Amino acid sequence: MTKGFKIAIDGPAAAGKSTIAKITAKKLGYTYIDTGAMYRALTHKALESNIDINDEAALEVLLQNTEIMLTPLGNEGQSVIVDDKDVTESIRSQQVTAAVSAVSAHQAVRELMVKKQRILGEATGVVMDGRDIGTHVLPNAELKIFMTASVEERAQRRYDENRTRGIDSSLESLKREISERDRADSERLVSPLKQAEDAILIDTTSMSIEEVAGKISRLAEERTRR
Ligand code: DC
Repeated sequence: MTKGFKIAIDGPAAAGKSTIAKITAKKLGYTYIDTGAMYRALTHKALESNIDINDEAALEVLLQNTEIMLTPLGNEGQSVIVDDKDVTESIRSQQVTAAVSAVSAHQAVRELMVKKQRILGEATGVVMDGRDIGTHVLPNAELKIFMTASVEERAQRRYDENRTRGIDSSLESLKREISERDRADSERLVSPLKQAEDAILIDTTSMSIEEVAGKISRLAEERTRR
């Protein structure tokens, strides 16, 4: 398929973006770039270094001195390496999840991250997922998807996923956490979560993973033929 073809997948927390993005990238032989993992990696390092998540200047300096590497991991998606340390699992912790919206709301942090993401996006065919990919990071992406699902469905999926990983969680608190993150990510001043005008909306509430991945791959194939 065409080199340099870019697919942007945006949407609220736990909508299944990364699962679908990984499958689509694999099907098309593209590189998958999880931009949420980059914000999580910085948040993880800030918490470890006792840096205040509301201190924009300190976070900017921290990011300038941080190397974030996303390395493809076969079927498992990608591993996240920060300054030579593998943080793939630890960036998914409850502490990081609770703090990441505050870290990612800072303009200085976003500017630097977007620069890094655009460089990664230049590589070859990419599937990049996040909140502002279609609106800001890759405004010229050939295909833009805005993926959503009801809060109930997203909480249920996260609950099931946690159970498979042996993590105990409560459906009610997952619903609260997801709604709170949606609110913070949509209401922030810099590049809020928003559907790009030319994005295709996919509500995955009653769709299977295979159906969603199939639909996106078909759309991508149609567009590369144009
Ligand atoms: O996709 P995720 O849940 O791993 O993302 C974690 C947080 O990072 C999310 O709550 C908002 C932020 N984020 C962002 O602001 N912009 C992106 N492109 C990706 C994630």
